[in-house]
Amino acid sequence: MNILITGATGFIGRRLVQRLQQPDHVIRVLSRNGRRAGSLLGVPAYQWDCRTEDVPGEAMRDCQVVINLMGENLGDGRWTEARKHEIYASRILSTRKLVAAAPDSLQTFVCGSAIGIYPGSGDTLYDESCTMPEQRGFIQTICHDWEQEAARIERNGVRRVSIRTGVVLGQGGMLQKLLPVFKLGLGGPVGSGLQWLPWIHIDDIVSVFANAALDSRYHGAINAVSPNPVRYREFAHALGKVLQRPAVFPVPALLLRLALGEAAALALNSYRIAPKRLLEELGFRFKYSELGAALEDLLGDKQ
Ligand SMILES: NC(=O)c1ccc[n+]([C@@H]2O[C@H](COP(=O)([O-])OP(=O)(O)OC[C@H]3O[C@@H](n4cnc5c(N)ncnc54)[C@H](OP(=O)(O)O)[C@@H]3O)[C@@H](O)[C@H]2O)c1
Repeated sequence: MNILITGATGFIGRRLVQRLQQPDHVIRVLSRNGRRAGSLLGVPAYQWDCRTEDVPGEAMRDCQVVINLMGENLGDGRWTEARKHEIYASRILSTRKLVAAAPDSLQTFVCGSAIGIYPGSGDTLYDESCTMPEQRGFIQTICHDWEQEAARIERNGVRRVSIRTGVVLGQGGMLQKLLPVFKLGLGGPVGSGLQWLPWIHIDDIVSVFANAALDSRYHGAINAVSPNPVRYREFAHALGKVLQRPAVFPVPALLLRLALGEAAALALNSYRIAPKRLLEELGFRFKYSELGAALEDLLGDKQ
């Protein structure tokens, strides 16, 4: 199987490339810096700037699977108008161009999405069947448009999967940003601490993406979160416990809004999400379904 991966140099992508490197697969990647990506990952890498260029034909040739993970990081500071544009274009424009360049050989298109597609409030439990409100904020618009662009590939008879990813816990992402503060014993719940955190362990999200690429039962939008979301205050407590540090210093919502502006929504919104399709339809077995075990695995020996 020829598999093309974008965003392969990222937190999830690096692990996914390792997982899919099997004798019967040939992995290629697209990156803004092809040379760097090739030497980092040890696979053929093609340079692509999605804002100014079409997808290089060579990268797509005889490709059976595309996995599209690229996108400007949402958590790296304030959402200025320029960054908002970059966050949007790096996902939606890239997906549009990949869909337009799909060769006849393509069978499967797996695309990133996020739990940010759901209304970020309250205690209501959302699964893939819930009705979305017509009015959308910035994160919802990104996720909605990203899925719509990806879904266009279905007209060519290609199986499309959009993975609504939760907050990934691993050596990167949110945990990496929180660790220095928590290690100093200065961590604690964010805002009220009552908002829900839809976490997933890096091993499990990599399995979901690998399955989506290779298992034809996967199609459409799929929530990728652990079956046991927790409230932020439980998360802070569990993290403090694994690190053997107090985690009692709350980060006030106002402070976060002043520091991050609109981007504070990433930590303050409440997403209580169920992985209904993974569990009930696809029989997915989570390696880590309890937060304590997930954090112990990631941080247990590394205090
Ligand atoms: N990590 C999470 O908790 C999480 C949660 C929900 C959804 N997701 C989504 O899943 C995807 C992968 O997540 P990740 O955490 O692995 O992402 P990541 O570490 O931030 O990496 C994504 C990759 O995208 C490329 N990229 C970054 N900025 C770009 C830009 N402005 N234009 C074009 N390409 C750009 C980079 O590859 P090159 O430098 O090689 O070009 C980068 O390695 C993302 O789209 C993300 O939104 C992640």
